[in-house]
Amino acid sequence: MSTRTGEAGVALIGYAFMGRAHSNAYRQVAPFFKPRLRPRMKVLCGRTRSKVERAARELGWDEVATDWREVIERSDIDIIDIATPGDSHAEIAIAAARAGKAVFCEKPLANSVREARQMLAAADRAGVAHMICHNYRRAPAVMLARQLIAEGELGEIRHYRGTYLQDWITDPGFPLVWRLDRKQAGSGALGDIAAHSVDLARFLVGEIVEVAGHLETFIRKRPLPDNPRRFGQVTVDDAAIALVRFAGGAMGTIEASRLAPGRKNYNSFEINGSRGSVAFDLERLNELELYLESDRPRIRGFRRVLVTEAKHPYIKAWWPPGHIIGYEHTFVHTVYELLEAMADGRVPEPSFVEGVQNQRVLEAIEKAARTRRWVPVPSDVRHRQTRRPAKD
Ligand SMILES: NC(=O)c1ccc[n+]([C@@H]2O[C@H](COP(=O)([O-])OP(=O)(O)OC[C@H]3O[C@@H](n4cnc5c(N)ncnc54)[C@H](O)[C@@H]3O)[C@@H](O)[C@H]2O)c1
Repeated sequence: MSTRTGEAGVALIGYAFMGRAHSNAYRQVAPFFKPRLRPRMKVLCGRTRSKVERAARELGWDEVATDWREVIERSDIDIIDIATPGDSHAEIAIAAARAGKAVFCEKPLANSVREARQMLAAADRAGVAHMICHNYRRAPAVMLARQLIAEGELGEIRHYRGTYLQDWITDPGFPLVWRLDRKQAGSGALGDIAAHSVDLARFLVGEIVEVAGHLETFIRKRPLPDNPRRFGQVTVDDAAIALVRFAGGAMGTIEASRLAPGRKNYNSFEINGSRGSVAFDLERLNELELYLESDRPRIRGFRRVLVTEAKHPYIKAWWPPGHIIGYEHTFVHTVYELLEAMADGRVPEPSFVEGVQNQRVLEAIEKAARTRRWVPVPSDVRHRQTRRPAKD
């Protein structure tokens, strides 16, 4: 992979939720982080000209296109950014890699392990940069948790408890949008939000080697978006629960639901080790809860670390201590990692390798739920050893 500095032309496909988050990241990254490779927001791609033109004006893109195939071959485009539903990821990513473009793709990487592996193979063969957008890895408090675990502060990791809860489909009258259709979304809460918990589990604790799972669809028919009097079948899970076993010996649970009234974007985890614990909740993303056995007994207890000091990951580029950051900053950090990796001529993290492995875990959970058995997770990723010897 060659090194790159100067400007990188970006084409973004999809301009709704993630399209807006990614556009904001491209606008913010250069002024704050000064990457050696700066993004140039060239083409915004959608399917309906009037809508994509309006979005391009709002979000700051130079041009528009109504077919992603038009932009893939353009010599002034270096990065193809995929922010569309899962059923289009593989086709776009493979074509982009074959055209020699770096590929930045939203999660889940694809709707099956087979597609995800094809995407990785195409990117590898073409020697292009590839990255999956697991932006929560890049919250400073999550990065701090990872540093503490890697430095052995928590000792031997025993428990991971990942919970990702939302409530936006609690109402049975909520329409049958693409996220409730298996053909487009691949799966429900599992691929949509448990995918993040799986990625965080692997990022923080290590490889997941075996899973048990349970999936449930509580509301099986919903009104069609364009005709609320007619109903269609929900073909994905509403909620997913998994037991997971890690290569390093830890045990874990992952729970995801979009029918948890009152929970808006409760992406949280707690990790317990032999010497301490950490806990994180995305809705308070500037904070990490930390408990250390090494504290003096009189003051031992969970403390809230405000992760906004200059020495904390990414913070120096933003504001002085205590001037908190938000959801959108995690995308800026992710895009910064992509650009810096391209400048160095290396594959960014998390890459499609992580995307494939996350997909294997998701597919194993589905199989475990179907067969009501524990299912091993195949891997060609070298397992990170996370069991740590006690210090004393
Ligand atoms: N990283 C995260 O935290 C996060 C959060 C939400 C969604 N996502 C992922 O991002 C992706 C998009 O989700 P979203 O929430 O932005 O969905 P969305 O429905 O808000 O937007 C999807 C966009 O894709 C466009 N689109 C669909 N098919 C297309 C095609 N063939 N060609 C061009 N454009 C097409 C739609 O017009 C729309 O602009 C999904 O893979 C989803 O899982 C990630």
